[in-house]
Amino acid sequence: MCILLAYNIVSVFYAVKAMSTQSNDSVRPIRWQDTELLLLDQRYLPQRQEWLRLSTAPAVAQAIKDLVIRGAPAIGITAAWGLVLSLMQHRNVVEAEQRSRIAEDIKVLAAARPTAVNLVWALERVSRSLQAGRDIDAVIKEAVLISERIQLDDVAANYRMGELGAEFIKPGSVVLTHCNAGSLATGGYGTALGVIRKAWSDGLIDKVYACETRPWLQGTRLTAWELQQDGIPVTLITDSAAAWLMTQKQVDWVITGADRVASNGDVANKIGTRNLAGLCQLHTTQMMVVAPLSTIDPHTSSGAEIEIEQRQGEELTKIGDWDINAGHMHVWNPVFDLTPADWVDVLVTEKGALTAPGSSSIVRLFEA
Ligand code: MRU
Repeated sequence: MCILLAYNIVSVFYAVKAMSTQSNDSVRPIRWQDTELLLLDQRYLPQRQEWLRLSTAPAVAQAIKDLVIRGAPAIGITAAWGLVLSLMQHRNVVEAEQRSRIAEDIKVLAAARPTAVNLVWALERVSRSLQAGRDIDAVIKEAVLISERIQLDDVAANYRMGELGAEFIKPGSVVLTHCNAGSLATGGYGTALGVIRKAWSDGLIDKVYACETRPWLQGTRLTAWELQQDGIPVTLITDSAAAWLMTQKQVDWVITGADRVASNGDVANKIGTRNLAGLCQLHTTQMMVVAPLSTIDPHTSSGAEIEIEQRQGEELTKIGDWDINAGHMHVWNPVFDLTPADWVDVLVTEKGALTAPGSSSIVRLFEA
């Protein structure tokens, strides 16, 4: 019996190890534990790996605002669990009061960040369990199942997009990525980094460059860290070195994720993505955007309708605790920008990869 148990433990260990070395996939930022949500706190990476424990929806909303967790799909998954926490917290309140408290929590969660459409998408999905008059325990049970499904489906979509995107990468390719569209921005494996992981493990990539991604340094702190966790070497550049990089080295692909894709294919993503897409127009580099269907917003007809989040000026004027705003200057800090659809060579989703994406090919994706 003991020998059998030891054998099982050892074989599970090797199966997990083999899986993670084959797929270069070891980081998971979101954990649900019975009545608590655990988030790997991205404010402290790469120095410290600290998990934040949350048990109420407003605390989850605050964590999303504060960038404890970030990246569109990860924000969606987190919001789904936030709604589960709201249902649990208000389980024993009388029905009318219960409904208004849950509605208030949904409002607070939905307002946490405006650009990533996965947030509202996930809340709408979990809200399907909330029919009036239903037993609250049954509602909670279903909400937990939906949230688990959202999280698992996200990882599966990333694996699929990894395969579809890697088909475009020729052996010996050099790629550049921006921000963090990896495991830390999703349920796991990543969107843009999913393609890079897959192409790397297939031996197709010679070199990965990452932009530091001012001002919050998602590239330096998160992308570099998570690729290193998985043994994928990465070379960091300043955001402003991208144009020079493209003239000095052959960069075959810029590969990014997206926070929201309009139904005509316009892409809202981390500030600086538009610069890179524009540079691709001037060089031989191609632009690949990798995003699951949950990031495509059928209710937004073009990028012009997407709200671009503005964040506090301190993100630019402070380096850690060091205040570099000597003259109390004004700051403009939009954290996303828009890339027009016709600057995107390939849009990869879990339902298929679109070359030259546009309204009609996107509609067909949803119908497939
Ligand atoms: O402000 P963030 O860190 O939440 O922004 C995230 C991004 O813009 C990522 O690049 C990303 O593509 C979206 S998530 C896969």
